[in-house]
Amino acid sequence: MSYMDICREKAAQLKTKEKVNILAIESSCDETAAAVIENGRVIKSNAVFSQIPLHAIYGGVVPEIASRAHVDAVDRMVDHALSEAGMTFAEIDAIGVTYGPGLVGALLTGVSCAKALAFALDKPLIPVNHIEGHICANYLTHPDLTPPFICLVASGGHSHILMVEDYGVYRLLGCTQDDAAGEAFDKAARVLHLPYPGGPLLDKLAQNGDPNALKLPKAHTPGEYDFSFSGLKTAFINATHTMEQKGIEMRPEDLAASFQHAVVDALLSKTMRAALDHHVKALALAGGVSANSGLRAAFEAACQKAGIKLYMPRLDLCGDNAAMIGSAAYYRLLRGETGDMRLNAKPALRLV
Ligand code: KG4
Ligand code: ZN
Repeated sequence: MSYMDICREKAAQLKTKEKVNILAIESSCDETAAAVIENGRVIKSNAVFSQIPLHAIYGGVVPEIASRAHVDAVDRMVDHALSEAGMTFAEIDAIGVTYGPGLVGALLTGVSCAKALAFALDKPLIPVNHIEGHICANYLTHPDLTPPFICLVASGGHSHILMVEDYGVYRLLGCTQDDAAGEAFDKAARVLHLPYPGGPLLDKLAQNGDPNALKLPKAHTPGEYDFSFSGLKTAFINATHTMEQKGIEMRPEDLAASFQHAVVDALLSKTMRAALDHHVKALALAGGVSANSGLRAAFEAACQKAGIKLYMPRLDLCGDNAAMIGSAAYYRLLRGETGDMRLNAKPALRLV
C-alpha cells in the first residue's frame, strides 16, 4: 500500500477512536513550536521556542534568520513536546502542521519536518491554516465553547471578523483594509522607542496613561465590519513628531493609552456591531492582540452589557503556539481533510 492509501485508511479509523493524540508543529513566523493535543481540546504538552531576541536588534522579523532558527529548533521542540507529554511517536495518531499564511522559508521548515515524520511513521498528515489555529486556541481554553460564534482575529498580520458557523466552516464578515491591528501596535510602539515587538510593551505603558490625552481620528471604512489602522497610525506618528518639534511634552504612558484606546475602540465597535446584527450568543477573541489588557477589559464590559458570552484564549495561548494548531488539526481530521506528500507552504493562504 502507498503512503496515501495507508494515510486515508488510518484517518478514517481515527474518526471513531476514543482518544486521538495529534503532534502539531508551528513555524509560520518567529516561534518554533510543537505540541501534543488530545481530541482537539486537551493540551498534553506545549513547547514554544521564541526567536524574538534574535530579531529584536533589527526591529522586526528577518525572514532568513527566522528560517535558519526554525531549522535549528524544530527537532528539539518535537522532542520536548513528546517528552513533556510522556509519549513516544508510537502513541501519536496524526501529525498536524501550519502550512500558511506566513513566511515561506519559515513555513517550509515545519511542513518539511511534518511530512518527514508522517511518511516515516505512516501517520496521517493534517495541513492547518494558522488563522484557524488562533481561533481554536479558544477550544483549548473553554471546554464549553462550540460553534456558532463570532470571532475577532487580531494578530500581527491579520484583523478579521469571522462567523464561525461550524468546526472548520467560516464566513468572513469584515477585515482590515490596510494594516493589521498588531502591526499598528508595533509601529506606534516604535515611535515610543519600544523594542520589537512593541505591542505588549505599549500595552504595559498604557495601563498608567490617560486614554483621552491625545485625540486621534476615527477611520472611515467602506464595509460596516471592516477596519483601517493605517490612517490612525500615521496620525499618531505625525502627532508625536509635531510635539517633538514644538517642544510639547506628553508622557509616553498617555501617548500609549491614547493609541491603544483608539485601536480598541475600532475593534470593539465593529465586532460588537457584527455580533448584535447577527444575533449571536457567543463572541470569541483570537490572535496575539487578544492578549491586550485594554481590549480584554473593553470586550468584557461590552459583552456583559449586551448579554453575549465572551470567550478569550488563555494569555499564553494568544500568541503563536502549536497547541492551537493541534486543536485545529483534530477538527480537520474529523472532516476527512488530510494532506499528502505534495503539501507545500502557502505564504498567502486564506481562511475564507
Ligand atoms: O498572533 P501573533 O502572535 O502572530 C501573528 O500571527 O501575527 O501576533 C503578534 C502580534 C504582534 O504585533 C504583537 O505586538 C501583538 O500581536 N501583541 C499585542 C499584545 N501582545 C501581542 N498587541 C497589543 N497588546 C498586547 N498585549
Ligand atoms: Zn499568529
